[in-house]
Amino acid sequence: MDYKNNILETIGNTPMVKLNKVVADLPCLVLGKIETFNPGHSVKDRMALKMVEDAEKAGKLKPGGTIIECTSGNTGMGIALAATIKGYKCIFTTSDKQSKEKVDMLKALGAEVIVCPTNVTPEDPQSYYSVAERLSQEIPGSVWLNQYDNLSNRQAHYESTGPEIWQQTAGKITHFVVGVGTGGTVSGVAKYLKEQNPNIKIWGIDTYGSVFKKYHETGIFDENEIHSYITEGIGEDILPKNVDFALIDHFEKVTDKDGALAARRLAQEEGLLLGYSAGSALAGLRQMKDQLKPEDVVVVLFHDHGSRYIGKLYNDDWMREQGFM
Ligand SMILES: Cc1ncc(COP(=O)(O)O)c(C=O)c1O
Repeated sequence: MDYKNNILETIGNTPMVKLNKVVADLPCLVLGKIETFNPGHSVKDRMALKMVEDAEKAGKLKPGGTIIECTSGNTGMGIALAATIKGYKCIFTTSDKQSKEKVDMLKALGAEVIVCPTNVTPEDPQSYYSVAERLSQEIPGSVWLNQYDNLSNRQAHYESTGPEIWQQTAGKITHFVVGVGTGGTVSGVAKYLKEQNPNIKIWGIDTYGSVFKKYHETGIFDENEIHSYITEGIGEDILPKNVDFALIDHFEKVTDKDGALAARRLAQEEGLLLGYSAGSALAGLRQMKDQLKPEDVVVVLFHDHGSRYIGKLYNDDWMREQGFM
């Protein structure tokens, strides 16, 4: 018999798939690391399980305890899976710009979800960071995992995602391209890959409205860069501890429109129904194509599944309302 003991054992070991039509004008091999094959349909299952297990090991999470997290949906999904198997309660705070599908999915797994306003500063008591922090102080036996500053996040990618990419490319990878939110994926993978070969280039994909690119290039945290945007999952108005700026060679900003259109190309031309940040990652790579040589091997990581965006970027009316079509 060949079976897993529970759904958590299916996390990781996701496939890598060659991109064809959407990169036909690029000179080199481009591979997609398809993280939708995780049981929660996103890369975040990896770090969610690691944060829960590290909290257990540290004695912060005890049987019957409550896990609190601010999440745009994917981390919540991973945490909810772990909590269901391990017997914890979950309360998630999220922002009102996230897809309704994401919120409903978290509720389907038994979590309580508190939707907070997007257009407030992180310090505002209504922000989804502040609400999570307050609840963790008020609820006995609760722990706020805080994916932004909890370094178990990037460690998960150092231990699993990075080694998988190195092995799947037989060490031939030259460029890693990935959207940056908490920074866990980019920093953990980059650390592992650069330890194997320091010449591998790491390109982080950022959004307009986020502070990352300017901070990386100038050291200035410029509040004037911050404005609301439509892209989901990447870009920040804070500097999470999980972003290791020294490991990232370049940040490329992608517009909401270009990310959405690129995601639709992945679905229509490659059969890959993926999330918004997957489109941003492809669009960012395409913006950088003049930097690539025929012998290069590029890996683009695709964070999550398109089912979470059916009412948005895969809906023609929504696309027209945004002025994207
Ligand atoms: C859809 C999506 N894309 C990209 C990211 C960014 O990944 P990370 O937080 O590891 O930087 C996230 C994380 O929340 C996400 O949910």
